[in-house]
Amino acid sequence: MSKRILSCMQPTSHLHLGNYLGALRNWVNLQDEPGSECLYGVVDLHAITQPYERDGLAQATREIAAAYIAGGIDPAKSAIFVQSAVPAHSELMWLLATMAQMGKLERMTQFKDKAGKNAERAGLGLFSYPVLMAADILLYKATHVPVGDDQKQHLELSRELASTFNTRFGVEHFVQPEPYIMGLATRVMSLADGTKKMSKSDPSEKSRINLTDDADTIRKKIKKAQTDAEPLPANVEGLEGRAGADNLVTIYAALAAVSKADVLKGREGQGWGDFKTELADLAVAHLEPITSRMRELLADPAQIDAVLRAGNEKANAIAEKTLSETRDIMGFWG
Ligand code: AMP
Ligand code: TRP
Repeated sequence: MSKRILSCMQPTSHLHLGNYLGALRNWVNLQDEPGSECLYGVVDLHAITQPYERDGLAQATREIAAAYIAGGIDPAKSAIFVQSAVPAHSELMWLLATMAQMGKLERMTQFKDKAGKNAERAGLGLFSYPVLMAADILLYKATHVPVGDDQKQHLELSRELASTFNTRFGVEHFVQPEPYIMGLATRVMSLADGTKKMSKSDPSEKSRINLTDDADTIRKKIKKAQTDAEPLPANVEGLEGRAGADNLVTIYAALAAVSKADVLKGREGQGWGDFKTELADLAVAHLEPITSRMRELLADPAQIDAVLRAGNEKANAIAEKTLSETRDIMGFWG
């Protein structure tokens, strides 16, 4: 069976190493799987669920598209599109919202995190964020959705909404999307606190490596990363209960595409200073070409816009068809 692969990121801020290792790098590999069709979106309608700068939104959208391309997404193979340029996302979201239960949305951990203590004052957009995400996925009848570990719960809701709809109308219309949570670094942790996820919204810049950071900044951030008093252990068991240490070894393994056990081989007793220097070299070697390609792309916004327009056209064609079928199944006039 052929696969349709879809995933998205929000144009909220610069992408970081977690976005790259947990998601983007896998997206790149998937576009070469025979028989698979890939669509990658920049979800700007999701980005406005939290306070944002009006004047920076279009540029942030271009920046994410540039990161996709610089990271290896080939617009000749995969469609890169902008969510707000495909109106069917918003319309399908409303249709699905009529079938989504408030109780389930209230249990979403991302909502709880983002709404904070005062959930009563959170916007309806933030609350219904996972329903829009379900619309993003179901609209394309995506079979596989490559994401980081933190999106598992949202994916589960998308699967439930697909089956609720199909059962309600007695059809096999929407496809149940499978999460693709791949690789070693499905959850990259903060460099400042190994028990917290590396996140765009962490106020501490030291907590993450951005894809736009230069080599010097990457080295400095890794040097300051949290470890502990013990040197590197002989094996993976020796990383248990050592969140900061485990995180650095995981990042190394993911970048070098080897297992954590392989990273630790021959390193028993090595000090973190030396290990961090090696890790920084590896990270710079990986990220430098992406960063410089991104800079080149951003110097020519017209080129990015052309890629997005072509992607939007492809996405609209698929989305409009599904939406029209959906309206029909639901019994609307016209
Ligand atoms: P976001 O930063 O929320 O827009 O996430 C975009 C993609 O990156 C999603 O697939 C996330 O699951 C993934 N992602 C975000 N943060 C991390 C992280 N710390 N580790 C691994 N994947 C992540
Ligand atoms: N919620 C995802 C995140 O925070 C972004 C997203 C929106 C997404 N729509 C999607 C991911 C559809 C995969 C498929 O990272």
